[in-house]
Amino acid sequence: MSLDPALLARAVDLLKAGELVALPTETVYGLGADAANPAAVAKIFAAKGRPADHPLIVHLPGDDWLDQWAADIPQAAWDLAEAFWPGPLTLILNKQPWVPDAVTGGQDTVGLRVPGHPVALELLKAFADAGSHGRHAGGIAAPSANRFGRISPTTAAHVQEELGERVPLILDGGPCQVGIESTIIDLSRGRPEILRPGHIGPQRLAEVLGDLPAMHQSQGAPRVSGSLESHYAPVTPVRLLAPERLLDFLTLQRHAGVRCGVLAYDQPAQAGMPHLWRMLPADPAGYAHDLYGALRDLDHQQLGLIVVEAPPASPAWSAVQDRLRRAAA
Ligand code: TXA
Ligand code: MG
Repeated sequence: MSLDPALLARAVDLLKAGELVALPTETVYGLGADAANPAAVAKIFAAKGRPADHPLIVHLPGDDWLDQWAADIPQAAWDLAEAFWPGPLTLILNKQPWVPDAVTGGQDTVGLRVPGHPVALELLKAFADAGSHGRHAGGIAAPSANRFGRISPTTAAHVQEELGERVPLILDGGPCQVGIESTIIDLSRGRPEILRPGHIGPQRLAEVLGDLPAMHQSQGAPRVSGSLESHYAPVTPVRLLAPERLLDFLTLQRHAGVRCGVLAYDQPAQAGMPHLWRMLPADPAGYAHDLYGALRDLDHQQLGLIVVEAPPASPAWSAVQDRLRRAAA
């Protein structure tokens, strides 16, 4: 997939002018702005309705840009970049002193990733070549392109629905391949720690790091906004249920006159139930790919409740489990 040259030029011009551009990545769509321009970054927070102290991920065209943005880079960061970039992994590293507070939420660390989507990479390279901030060029700050606390968009149509005319340009790169946000690993303080689970799981990270990273236990103020208890949430209430309780619960809901949306991966639809049934793939990657689209779709159906058949509690499902727990919080 390659961008129309006129569209690419327009996107770069908008970014250079301090405007927003929504862009596809392999995880979810991002709402991008020039990361070296605090006024541009402020527009991201305004468009999303997001608290301004939440740090953003800076997207880079390649790992050769890493030391422009990060300082005291440990060998583990280079190794992970080599193994997984371009791809769905964000590294938290000590920042270079010049990196704006608007991007880091005033912290002394910065989140960096090279996304694995051809359109994002093409835009990042063209923006870096345009060099609007000299040696500080090339970074696009981009949180997920949804309003604060809502479901991340995995198609250009979702972005249109979330942000519409608040964004002057939405680049369409088709449906996102991964479908949930990147794995975030903090390398800024001693033992590597996973702040947000994702498609790249602890086992694969351990193959590069030599050791299993720690798992962050959320406490107090969020360093990661995705770690707020209620996040990635539809408007319709969401309830997670163990597979063996699913049918009884849905029968009760039927008697109570509550029409539910059901998100299942194993339990087939039941005859005589008024509920709206959606089957998701029974493997974690396929499930993640379809999850946000399915939640968004059910959220549009005027249902009383979205009931999710809880996936297995195994490590392979931990990223999906994490997003479902937050959707239900
Ligand atoms: O897959 C993704 O990561 C997508 C695509 C667009 O790249 N982006 C994304 O951004 O999910 P956002 O802003 O919705 O989530 C980024 C997470 C936030 O939870 C933020 O708090 C965390 O990254 N983050 C960014 N910089 C950080 C830092 N210096 N320390 C701790 N957490 C940080
Ligand atoms: Mg987000």
